[in-house]
Order: sequence, then structure tokens, then C-alpha cells
Amino acid sequence: MKLNVTDFLFAMSFALDAVEQEISGGKVQSGHGKRVAYMLMKMIQPLHLSVPEQVTYIGCAILHDNGLAEYIRGELELQYTQSSKLRLHVELGEKNMELLPFDIDIKDIILHHHENADGSGPLRLKGDEINEIAHLLHIADIVELACNFDGDIDLEFEKMKNMLEDCKNKMFSEKAVSLFEQNITKDDSLFMRDENFTMTRHLQNFS
Ligand SMILES: [Fe+2]
Ligand SMILES: [Fe+2]
Repeated sequence: MKLNVTDFLFAMSFALDAVEQEISGGKVQSGHGKRVAYMLMKMIQPLHLSVPEQVTYIGCAILHDNGLAEYIRGELELQYTQSSKLRLHVELGEKNMELLPFDIDIKDIILHHHENADGSGPLRLKGDEINEIAHLLHIADIVELACNFDGDIDLEFEKMKNMLEDCKNKMFSEKAVSLFEQNITKDDSLFMRDENFTMTRHLQNFS
């Protein structure tokens, strides 16, 4: 069977979105995975990566919370304790990604996506011990969760910039903050508000 990677990624993105919505009772904004993927795509643009590398890392961003549904199923079955939540979520996600046929090395990207630059994350890794793409995924993930994409654009963009500065060298590495600030504009923020916003067109640019 021939697998179309783009179609597969977006089917997965849609499914994860539906699961997150269902589980959170609508508290999580829909489109989390694709907005995280869009921000990651913008941040890696100056890194001179090959097209397969870019597509693979964008795919990882779309699927970064793939361990969520499995983790919640475990929680419902009372297998997991409160303190191990984030750790289990990244470990399950990393394990699932090992099953996917990516040619590019994606080891540790999902496993490290909740690590903080200062070592206060679930695995207590810090700085260069954290996968480089995971640093970027982490910042996109947190910004997406912190911003209200229905709120006032100027206020939200200001809030985003303040958060980046406040969290620099704590939650986020200096390099990740600088790649974010240099490559994600207010227009991007506006663009991600469109309820019909899709990554499909952007991925087609790579084929
Ligand atoms: Fe996550
Ligand atoms: Fe996430």
C-alpha cells in the first residue's frame, strides 16, 4: 500500500483535534496541532534544512501530542499517578512515533517536547541535552496554549511577546526565543485565527 504522507498527517491532525476537544469538553482551542506545526515551520525556515527534514519535523509537530489519547485512556483505567502525567504523555508519544516510516531521524523530538531549557521539565534535561527541534516545538506548543486566538489581536500579540521575554533561559532557550521572534509576525498570528486555516497548502509547497 502506498501512503500519502500529507494525507496521513492531516487525517491524524483531525483525529487528534477531535479527541482533544472531546476530552477537554471544548476547553482546548481546536486546531492546536496545526497551529503548533505552522509556527514550527516558520521557525525552522532559516535553518537551511533539506525538504525531507522540514516535512518530517512539521509532521512531528502535527503529531506531537499523539500520546494524549493513550495517556488519558490509561488514566481512566487508573494506571497513572498525577505526578507522572507529562512524562507518560511524552514517553507514549515517542514510542508511537517509532512505528512511523520516517526516513529522517526523529529520536527524542516528541520525548523532549515538554522539557524546559533550565532543567525544570519532566525529564530534568537542560540546554543542549534537549533535542534542538524539541526546543522549538516546546515554545510553539506553550505559545499556542497561552494565546487566545479569538481575543484582541494586538493584546494577544503583546502578551505573546512578553511571555517569550519572561520565559527566556527558563522555559525556553535563547535560540528558540530568537527564532520565534524573528520569524513569527502579527500577520502569522492573524492568519492562524482563520477557522479554515489549514496546513495542507503549506505542505504542498514542499512537494
Ligand atoms: Fe504535549
Ligand atoms: Fe501540545
